[in-house]
Amino acid sequence: SGGAKSSSAPLFGKLPEKYQKSGVVKVGTDAAYAPMESMDGTRIVGIDPDIAEALGTKLGVKFSFESGKFDGLIGSLYSGRYDLVMSGMTDNKDRQQGLDEGKKAGEGVDFVDYFQSGTAILVKKGNPKGIKTLDDLCGKKVAVQLGTTYADAATAQSAKCEKAGKPKIAIETPDTDAEAQVRVKSGGADADLNDFPVAVHVAKTADNGNSFEVAGDPVDAGPFGIAVDKQNAQLRDAVKEALDAIIADGTYKKILDKWGAS
Ligand code: ARG
Repeated sequence: SGGAKSSSAPLFGKLPEKYQKSGVVKVGTDAAYAPMESMDGTRIVGIDPDIAEALGTKLGVKFSFESGKFDGLIGSLYSGRYDLVMSGMTDNKDRQQGLDEGKKAGEGVDFVDYFQSGTAILVKKGNPKGIKTLDDLCGKKVAVQLGTTYADAATAQSAKCEKAGKPKIAIETPDTDAEAQVRVKSGGADADLNDFPVAVHVAKTADNGNSFEVAGDPVDAGPFGIAVDKQNAQLRDAVKEALDAIIADGTYKKILDKWGAS
């Protein structure tokens, strides 16, 4: 019909008018990161889409997902292609400040934190190189997804190796974590650094659990956040209220249970 939509959803009135009119919030993600988000045929499924759907119910709008290259998601937020990024994305200072995208003070993104994650080291089943900690990666080959905090972590660890007089890490940065996993499986890389729930999921599900294992214990990696442009503070606050509501009514926990990530 094209005109302003109305909704009886409890938090509809909190949304900026733009979204009340369109009825749609556009979300960017990189859907090669199960169980956070992955493709099921042409549908994007996972923890992030399920949380988004629940937020949408509280807000009275549809959250529509599109998959793109992880390294470009924040840029597409600034360009207006997306209103939010939900992609198992770690909330950190660098991203908040947007220095990579040339942002100045007061610009950048805000995060609505929604999930606690940890760094995992994903290795081949049987852990042939005996990797247990990040220090064990010195002199090894590591595949990590481009543009992630784990690509930064691998680079920082490599510098630490050199400083300690050990050989550095040979780092490869494919566009998706799925490709990094393939490198580990084929033996082209000794390890992939990624998020703990993802590593656990891959180890359990890939090839009936026969290809991968998670090495060592998870290291705290900070929270995942829903990213929103600082210029879009009203949307941020509406999303935060909707998140509080789905946590309070038990929907949030049901979603994590469904995906085995509680
Ligand atoms: N948590 C890490 C980061 O924020 C990795 C996220 C990768 N997400 C994805 N959908 N591939 O950099």
